[in-house]
Amino acid sequence: MPGNYPFDRHVFVCQGPSCSQDGQGKTLQQTFDDLLCAKDLARKVKVTPCICLGLCNKGPNVIVYPDNIVYTRIQVSNVEEIVDGHLAQNQPVERLMYKRHF
Ligand code: FES
Repeated sequence: MPGNYPFDRHVFVCQGPSCSQDGQGKTLQQTFDDLLCAKDLARKVKVTPCICLGLCNKGPNVIVYPDNIVYTRIQVSNVEEIVDGHLAQNQPVERLMYKRHF
């Protein structure tokens, strides 16, 4: 069954205590919002705060749905690369992605 969600992607920016010491989470979220507006992507990509993604020792963390891609140790300086590469051109930024170790 096709979905009816009105956005192409949804970015959750962790605001939990490990990811947002000194308010980095809010700053990251605002930076995503500002860049998405500036690049005319705000109607395609929704940005929402969340509390914890369960990867606290890797933060600040961001997850992009429906791609299920987690970015770890994100800084404000990384946001434009994620917006331009992943959200605008469908090219996730591999070097910032969480690496699973089994
Ligand atoms: S506080 Fe961000 S992943 Fe737990």
